[in-house]
Amino acid sequence: MTASPTQSDDRLVGPDAAGIAAAGSALRNGKLVAFPSETVYGLGADATNDNAVAAIYAAKGRPTFNPLIVHVASVGAARQFVEFDERAERLCAQFCPGALSLVLPRRADCSLSLLVSAGLDSVAIRIPSHPVAQALLRQCQLPIAAPSANRSGAVSPTRASHVLAGWPDPQADGPALIIDGGACAIGVESTVIDLTTPTTTLLRPGGIALEEIEALVGPVVIATSDDNAPKSPGMLARHYSPDTPVYLNATGGKDGGLFLAFGANDGGSSYNLSPQRNLREAAANLFSLLRRLDALGANSISVAPIPNHGLGRAINDRLSRAATRAF
Ligand code: TXA
Ligand code: MG
Repeated sequence: MTASPTQSDDRLVGPDAAGIAAAGSALRNGKLVAFPSETVYGLGADATNDNAVAAIYAAKGRPTFNPLIVHVASVGAARQFVEFDERAERLCAQFCPGALSLVLPRRADCSLSLLVSAGLDSVAIRIPSHPVAQALLRQCQLPIAAPSANRSGAVSPTRASHVLAGWPDPQADGPALIIDGGACAIGVESTVIDLTTPTTTLLRPGGIALEEIEALVGPVVIATSDDNAPKSPGMLARHYSPDTPVYLNATGGKDGGLFLAFGANDGGSSYNLSPQRNLREAAANLFSLLRRLDALGANSISVAPIPNHGLGRAINDRLSRAATRAF
């Protein structure tokens, strides 16, 4: 087998002790490091270092009003930076480490860069469960600010090769190192819950289903991106977008375009999010299939309807943003 260009890139390191040590020292030196999590790959920086956090915004072309999630190794570490309430305690006890980000008030003595909050008085905190993310956090002994490791507006990466595709030029201001931990198991980003007011609010559906959260903390209000003042600045309508126009709720390809099926009625398409209609499998496949289909240069990608419960809510959220131009 010949080595692919991906495998020969100097920025790639393995998920072993040597790779983690190199990544930890790059972070301590203010560099950007892309790393796997159970949701998607993150583009990490020392969350206490203003210059390093600023470099994330620059590398992604991310608007500076859009705050970043801060990753820590444990609930104990999270308590250093944000104020917990009863809802946060319950949610963390059940879902942390895992695919949940909690927006909580910054503590008065919070040592995180103000840039992670982008002018808000809150921080989104996440405790990832992926063993490589955990090993990195414990190695560097720093909180790591990390948005998804894609350029702003593009489809999130679920493999190291997707990260490289965002910054093909090693001289560009992208990650200094990328830890290759294989494919992400969940494949959509974390669920973001705002706990800064007495109303529990879903800012972004994600890897933990809304139903599971409501079972613990009661009714959750769903924030919508067409609010005049979106609660989560990241809820821009156009996001997660392939270049190819995307159409939703389709039963087949449009005018000779591609069809991304879900379930047995695939219309002869060889692209299927989950032939068995399994929403976990569909979430895990979503971003890499969108990237693959986008690379084929067809005139359109039509996607089958996805049930809007459990992980289906996160899948539909990402698809509806990918398809903005179709509306
Ligand atoms: O699964 C994930 O969450 C991945 C992995 C790498 O952890 N990260 C991720 O980050 O998706 P990002 O930056 O692509 O999305 C973070 C979302 C954005 O919509 C942002 O606006 C919102 O969280 N957010 C972050 N901090 C916030 C805050 N203080 N208040 C409200 N929303 C916040
Ligand atoms: Mg993102």
